[in-house]
Amino acid sequence: MTKTILITGASTGIGAATARFLAAGNTVLIHYHRSQDAAGQVAADVQAAGGTPHLVQADLSTEDGCRTAAAFAAETCGQLDVLVNNAGGLVRRCEADRLEWQLMYDIFALNTFSTMMMSSLCVPLLDRGTDPCIVNLTSIAIRHGAPTATIYGASKGALDVFTRGLAKELAPRIRVNAVAPGVIETPFHDQVTTPERLEQFRASTPLGRNGQADDVAHAIRFLIENRFATGETLDLNGGLFMR
Ligand SMILES: NC(=O)c1ccc[n+]([C@@H]2O[C@H](COP(=O)([O-])OP(=O)(O)OC[C@H]3O[C@@H](n4cnc5c(N)ncnc54)[C@H](OP(=O)(O)O)[C@@H]3O)[C@@H](O)[C@H]2O)c1
Repeated sequence: MTKTILITGASTGIGAATARFLAAGNTVLIHYHRSQDAAGQVAADVQAAGGTPHLVQADLSTEDGCRTAAAFAAETCGQLDVLVNNAGGLVRRCEADRLEWQLMYDIFALNTFSTMMMSSLCVPLLDRGTDPCIVNLTSIAIRHGAPTATIYGASKGALDVFTRGLAKELAPRIRVNAVAPGVIETPFHDQVTTPERLEQFRASTPLGRNGQADDVAHAIRFLIENRFATGETLDLNGGLFMR
């Protein structure tokens, strides 16, 4: 069945891989913030794979940006089947005894408020969709902490709670799930993780490698397609964290 899918942060990394992976036969709204050229390439790839791409630019760490993206979806498609709240990032590393108010705000605005606001704004569109669902991106940082990324982990931990709360509140109309990726080799790490640290993560991972964006795209598709899944967080980390 043809689906209408809005993926935030679909210009690079996990969002771009997910847009490409879900492209065939579907309408894919590709949201980006700064990476216009990369988003254009994702749109071309979606088209080549037999999908219908639409591009929307917005800063989702602001309320206006969230309203812009949701209004674009409403005007362009009138409904949504899937919302993937993927846009996010670490912003900057910071030691716990040197926290800055503005940095904490920026991290929560980008990761937490954006997902909460986009979910809220898109509920009326999802209510008009078929087997509608939301997939949120959290992180392995919600499981075992991550020194110098403690606030980032907390911002994703809030999303983990939000995922379960929203799943109960919107059931049975809209399913809500999350993926908690481990270390995935994307531009996310460019400014915040050294190659040596990435190699340490790889060496500590039972499956012997870091993840790729496609690994996460598969997990997102599983949660979209599985009609009995809601309120679930799927840990995907090569065994780096096991429950
Ligand atoms: N990579 C990992 O190891 C890892 C692990 C756990 C969780 N995650 C989570 O997975 C998600 C995707 O990350 P990724 O690894 O694919 O990173 P990425 O390649 O850096 O992608 C981040 C995306 O977020 C968008 N973005 C950044 N700031 C934004 C803003 N203010 N408003 C709107 N969009 C904004 C970027 O858009 P532009 O480039 O267009 O500006 C980009 O498309 C994030 O939520 C991240 O926290 C990643």
